[in-house]
Amino acid sequence: MCGIVGYLGGKRDIKDFLLKGLKELEYRGYDSAGIAVLQNGELKICKAVGKLKNLEEKCKNVKTEGFGAGIGHTRWATHGKPTELNAHPHLGEFSYVVHNGIIENFKEIKEELEAPFVSQTDTEVIVHLFEKNLQQGLKPFEAFKATIEKLKGSYAILLITKAMPDTVFYAKKGSPLIIGRAEEEIFFASSDAPLIGYAKEVHYLDDGEFGYVDKEEISNWKEREKKEPLFQPLTLNKEFAQKGGFRFFMEKEIYEQSDVITQTLMGRAKDEAIEFEELEHGFFEDIQNIKICACGTSYHAGLTGAYLLERLAKIPCSVEIASEFRYKEPLLSDKTLFIVISQSGETADTLEALKMAKEAGLKTLAVCNVDNSSIVRLADRTILTRAGIEKGVASTKAFTTQVAVLWMLALYLAENFDKKELEALLHLPQALKVDDALHERLKRLSKRYLHGHGFFFIGRDIFYPLALEGALKLKEISYLHAEGYPAGEMKHGPIALADPELFTIALMPKTLLYDKVKSNVEELSARDSTICAVSSEEFELADDFIKIEPQNHPMLEYFSMSVVLQLLAMEIAIRLGNDVDMPRNLAKSVTVE
Ligand code: AGP
Repeated sequence: MCGIVGYLGGKRDIKDFLLKGLKELEYRGYDSAGIAVLQNGELKICKAVGKLKNLEEKCKNVKTEGFGAGIGHTRWATHGKPTELNAHPHLGEFSYVVHNGIIENFKEIKEELEAPFVSQTDTEVIVHLFEKNLQQGLKPFEAFKATIEKLKGSYAILLITKAMPDTVFYAKKGSPLIIGRAEEEIFFASSDAPLIGYAKEVHYLDDGEFGYVDKEEISNWKEREKKEPLFQPLTLNKEFAQKGGFRFFMEKEIYEQSDVITQTLMGRAKDEAIEFEELEHGFFEDIQNIKICACGTSYHAGLTGAYLLERLAKIPCSVEIASEFRYKEPLLSDKTLFIVISQSGETADTLEALKMAKEAGLKTLAVCNVDNSSIVRLADRTILTRAGIEKGVASTKAFTTQVAVLWMLALYLAENFDKKELEALLHLPQALKVDDALHERLKRLSKRYLHGHGFFFIGRDIFYPLALEGALKLKEISYLHAEGYPAGEMKHGPIALADPELFTIALMPKTLLYDKVKSNVEELSARDSTICAVSSEEFELADDFIKIEPQNHPMLEYFSMSVVLQLLAMEIAIRLGNDVDMPRNLAKSVTVE
């Protein structure tokens, strides 16, 4: 997720506020940054790749005392590599813009403009479209309004222009943007943290709100009506602000999934088809089978993807644990597409496996969350998951966005597919939304699962990899032993463990093999195992029952159950007093063997 800051006023050094504000947004992750200031008719800009200290170095001689308007941005690449040219602010002839989000129709807009584009980003079309509207005779605010109305997708935008100095234009749809105010000063930011210590009160912009601030007023609009901003006092705790009011980054990231998945789908899940601007069908021409390779949670996403690629795209698919693959002397064919999945893009085992595939002449595709990471730089093609930075060591939103990308890839490679697949895909934000009542129930339920001699998470088909993932989530943050297992396999040995102290978390989707799983669970219940059923339908033999919303597609049940398993693991870990975000012995990125 990119970070945005803005300022209008004359009571402080504008550059100083912008840089400090961007520093408060570092926790969101970024790969480049920039600021722009308009003062006394002069536009000053600095941009740099890498950490903020590079930007501070570049603009150390820029003076910005006195009244003016300023904007700043930290970029997490979604379109175009992390380079200085792709860093924000983007400039026109006399205007600058920063943007967080995805402009879905940027290609169409770009084709209509004869502007001198210098970046690979979607954002740059905003400033050139704005200046084209000005050149066609619209006044600045009308030109800005016309620009916003043309954009499809998600955005939080700040724009400054010589055409209307001492003014900041803003717009918000789908990405967060806040206006803060104090005496004779106006502040902007994409989250609370940069405003703390400056703004006395804040207005959280709603989707569809836009307008401008100048020395006289805040002219705020929604659709075609003026809308008075509703200012409220600002929280003063930065740590609290960075976690967005949640107890842990992991909790924030679980709740973020519903919004983040919208970014993952954006520009890709169209009404009739799947499009990847990063790919071309020719790349897959002579592929006869697929091998997926990953570690940990990413491996579980890969296992899920394999079911989908075979079922939907009819392409044989196998999945390997990278640390095993590296030393098994694998037989590789250049007719195999080698897919590596990694949140960090730096996992040593996965990176080495990718090198082996490249050396063997295979085509390689990375599904990754960090652009310009080692794995992204090495793979032939990359699909970014666009989950934004994931601070919690236990992966949540990275996992669900990986599975969503693999689902889209399977549809992209399929000769054809039933339209219900796309309908279900577009319903993902709802399926990932956290239901507060359900979360409360899981908080209460978690007290029952703080001991025992272990957990089995069981499921069939795609719910077997999900069972593995649920078990891993619990293990890595509660330190309790848990095992994911195919539900149909329990009778081949593990059922010997069944007793009241053995907790079985049974994933029982109504839309896929329900009766089969139900009979497996009945076998366990008959042997007095303690059953916690996760399903949309009551199951009388369950000792505990976690109800999910009924869905009409297995994948929607899959994503709803993902949220349940993430929250259950987290609430158990919290009760045990563990550091949910930084569990013992673990690192966010395992860059060693
Ligand atoms: C996930 O909760 C774990 N932190 C871990 O298994 C992780 O998925 C694994 O180390 C792979 O990391 P990557 O996705 O960054 O490659």
